[in-house]
Amino acid sequence: MQKLSHLEARQKFVDYFKKHGHTAVASSSLIPENDPTLLFANAGMNQFKNAFLGLENRGYNRAVSVQKCVRAGGKHNDLENVGFTARHHTFFEMLGNFSFGDYFKKDAIHFAWELLTKDLGIPKEKLYVTVFQSDDEAADIWHKQEGVPKDRIFRLGEKDNFWRMGDTGPCGPCTEIFYDHGPKAGTIADPFEGIKAGEDRFVEIWNLVFMQFYEKAPGVMDPLPKPSVDTGSGLERVCAALQGKFNNYDTDLFMPMINKACDLGGWPAQKLLDLEMKARDNRGATQIDGHSIQQVREDLAALRVMADHTRSSSFLIADGALPSNEGRGYVLRRILRRAIRYGRKVSDKHSFLPALSEVLIESMGSVYPELKARREIILTTLKDEESRFLQTLDQGTQILEEEMKRLKTQNKNQISGEFLFKLYDTFGFPADLTQLMAAEKGYTVDEAGFDAQMNTAREKARASWKGKSLQSDEAHLIEFSQKSFDQSKATQFTGYEGMTGESEIVALSNGSATAATLTAGQSGIVITRATPFYAEGGGQAGDTGEMKTASGAVLRVLNTTKKNNVHLHEVEVGAGTLKVGEKVSMTVASKERRQTMANHSATHLLHAALRKVLGTHVTQAGSLVDSQKLRFDFTHNKALTAEEVKRIEDMVNEEISKATPVGATVMKHKEAIAAGALALFGEKYGDEVRVLKMGDFSTELCGGTHVSNTAQIRMFCLVSESGVSAGVRRIEALTGDGAFEYLQGIRQSFM
Ligand code: ALA
Repeated sequence: MQKLSHLEARQKFVDYFKKHGHTAVASSSLIPENDPTLLFANAGMNQFKNAFLGLENRGYNRAVSVQKCVRAGGKHNDLENVGFTARHHTFFEMLGNFSFGDYFKKDAIHFAWELLTKDLGIPKEKLYVTVFQSDDEAADIWHKQEGVPKDRIFRLGEKDNFWRMGDTGPCGPCTEIFYDHGPKAGTIADPFEGIKAGEDRFVEIWNLVFMQFYEKAPGVMDPLPKPSVDTGSGLERVCAALQGKFNNYDTDLFMPMINKACDLGGWPAQKLLDLEMKARDNRGATQIDGHSIQQVREDLAALRVMADHTRSSSFLIADGALPSNEGRGYVLRRILRRAIRYGRKVSDKHSFLPALSEVLIESMGSVYPELKARREIILTTLKDEESRFLQTLDQGTQILEEEMKRLKTQNKNQISGEFLFKLYDTFGFPADLTQLMAAEKGYTVDEAGFDAQMNTAREKARASWKGKSLQSDEAHLIEFSQKSFDQSKATQFTGYEGMTGESEIVALSNGSATAATLTAGQSGIVITRATPFYAEGGGQAGDTGEMKTASGAVLRVLNTTKKNNVHLHEVEVGAGTLKVGEKVSMTVASKERRQTMANHSATHLLHAALRKVLGTHVTQAGSLVDSQKLRFDFTHNKALTAEEVKRIEDMVNEEISKATPVGATVMKHKEAIAAGALALFGEKYGDEVRVLKMGDFSTELCGGTHVSNTAQIRMFCLVSESGVSAGVRRIEALTGDGAFEYLQGIRQSFM
């Protein structure tokens, strides 16, 4: 068997499938775009979801990819195991080949077997396979076509051999290939028993999914238009097999970071690994060469947690995530804090994460250029999060210890939900971290109590949020839009050209269920075949306005959002009744939209001006544009000086006064980047992108609506500059009427 580096293993995989007619497709961002069912990209097939469903024709029907994946929340949640097992990661790379209605079981099995046993040279005696219990066809192919002996083919049930991406989505039976690391790697000798038990000796290295169904609700399945293939092979596991390592963390994907952490903390990396290896020959021993095996394992786990978490957080930040207290940002924060806490075990005198991340960028930057391009923000975010958290860690730990002491005097050993929540709320201690620290001292925590506190806090936040939009059921909206997409395809957006239009109602909902009609006084959601209403997205607010049906119904559009490429108009019916199938005339509130466009175009000018004045390390970290104002978050490490603020403001106003025409062109993504368009690495763009150009001053990829000439922005006035989080600054500014009113307000205060 050849010993391959991670760089060689990736390349061999891609080359093999290219040789067999597959198009190499780049990994999508970790942050899924337009897929609210998914927290992070968690499998190679995510970006091909619509191709499997037959909704999208990508111009090829065979693909190969190496996909960045994060599994640290949502359906495939691995966070707690990470570091303690040989093969769990929060971030991993999935090698995969795909057939969209092209080849099926026979070829999929043949490709996998040939690549593993010939191109990669893995001995056949090292491999076992499993198939779905009733899949005689797959079992036959393995045996008759590839010559795998029957006693190396095992049948398993739905839990192991039926793959689903989430609660809904494409799915199907699968066949898995296992690599046998040999007797030293585990305690169970029988392969079938070992595989069932998920033992370290027999490791699944490739999963071939025969995509046959679309699960629209849990347990409700429709056949896919054409049977397809989705495979996933964890690069880390393949490297472990190819490099003769029992543990993924011992491969060249992780060891450079582990060595770096050991160098910094003065730990003997090799000695720890040797002791761990010796313990395999002396199972059951508690001491080896005078060292506690338990301690060795804990030390190695700490190093492995740090290496793993450095990878996931660096990649997430590169794709645009930032630590926060909500959603994806919260998962990132939990990962970071877990890593920081383990870092403390190695040494409390060093900062680890940025140093480890530098090693990562060095070793993976050639494969993932976004790591290099976003180096600055990755390192500053890690550094700032580390120093902030270390401050609270000390305070929080002390408070937790006092609480445990107090409980002890009362002979109790459970930490209350209220206390957990207080630590979370005041010191930013994730509940699972408190749980971990408590468990180390023999205490349990009241998780349900914590959840209850958390829900109350959320309710409070919701009640104080004066949302303009209708409260609707998220799950229903996903299903509602998906169904509409299946029947009527994507909504055609006509709002770049104008603010009015005629169309036809294709679906209605009352916010929690599909409806045939909506009548005066009711609120609901309208989907039309085409629409001039811009749907909230890319930082730009959704349009508001009015609709009228042929039969005389009048509706106010309160907001427009988008799911599954379908525009959802949130409406209130003022008069009459509207029905599916009716013709409707649509008018966007033009003053608001014009102001929004001015604000959006000014945001692009601001972005360009910031890069010119502060430097090209400035990247967009978020933006929000509506008819009132614009808000732009960007990466920069210090507050802007008054002089910088003035230069930026002057530069933007200068561009406005030049009355430069604004133009949008649709082109291939590669051409756009070559033409110098600014794009966020975190965003995923289809093959065709819209490039928005304002003379030579600004070129950006953008799907938003814009002024047709910079003079329509009229004037630009910066009203605040502040810090949002580590290394991220925020500017708020006004244009047009908003800017005038602001200046008039200032005048009133002294005239
Ligand atoms: N999508 C399949 C998996 O993640 C291949 O295992």
